[in-house]
Amino acid sequence: MNVDSYRDQVVMITGAASGFGALLAKRLAGLGAKLVLGDRDSAELEQVAMALRATGTQVLAQPCDVTCEAQVKALVEAAVKVFGRLDVGVNNAGILTPMKRFIDTTEHELEQSFAVNAKGVFFGMQQQIRQMLAQGGGVILNVASMAGLGGAPKLAAYAAAKHAVVGLTRTAAVEYARQGIRINAVCPFYSATPMVTDSEVAEQQGFLAQGSPMKRLGTPDEIVAVMLMLCARDNSYMTGQAIAVDGGLSAY
Ligand SMILES: NC(=O)c1ccc[n+]([C@@H]2O[C@H](COP(=O)([O-])OP(=O)(O)OC[C@H]3O[C@@H](n4cnc5c(N)ncnc54)[C@H](O)[C@@H]3O)[C@@H](O)[C@H]2O)c1
Repeated sequence: MNVDSYRDQVVMITGAASGFGALLAKRLAGLGAKLVLGDRDSAELEQVAMALRATGTQVLAQPCDVTCEAQVKALVEAAVKVFGRLDVGVNNAGILTPMKRFIDTTEHELEQSFAVNAKGVFFGMQQQIRQMLAQGGGVILNVASMAGLGGAPKLAAYAAAKHAVVGLTRTAAVEYARQGIRINAVCPFYSATPMVTDSEVAEQQGFLAQGSPMKRLGTPDEIVAVMLMLCARDNSYMTGQAIAVDGGLSAY
């Protein structure tokens, strides 16, 4: 990746108050990007934004629940109003669903997962693509999961929505390839963000690690390194891909 890949690039990240989103924002700040950050947790989001502004980074932070189309639209509009364009959109906000057997999964859990994990990405993509068409190109990265590429036992509602993210990614990538919009998805295996460490998955980390050829989980830094590579300006021929970052799991 060219070191100047992100200098003065306007990058929007949803779910930026924690985990991958917050870490990506930090890395991008170090690379000279201008940041547009959204999260439904406005207090945590402001903490992240304040820390980044203290380093001299230009940050627009705005509460944004991705299940609400109007709030997602407002975030993209704010980006364009403040910075004049949107170079990169990262649809990262997501929730894990309770681990339970397929036959015990409820309609409500399926709807919740789709509302955040799939519809939230769909709203983000639509708004970002409209702006990118108007300005003549851009890059979108959707945060899917290994649960978007294969079966995820006890996570039916999560896996179904993450498969939808991969479908949205591939479809839009093909539709907008000629308009200079690259759209990819990243598909991490488990990694120790608060989604994992603060949930019922936490106690299973050792067991889950054994599932990957590397016999360990990925660090958030390792996932964010791939996110940076995927969105970089010089990664200009890759679109429509759902990239596994999984310690070799998908190679079995
Ligand atoms: N950590 C993992 O092991 C792992 C693996 C594969 C995929 N992912 C995906 O990575 C993405 C980031 O997750 P993370 O691990 O950093 O988790 P995290 O819980 O640390 O961060 C998720 C962020 O999304 C925000 N969020 C949740 N619902 C929202 C909504 N409706 N609107 C706006 N913001 C909302 C949360 O407030 C939080 O700040 C998610 O899409 C997740 O599914 C995570």
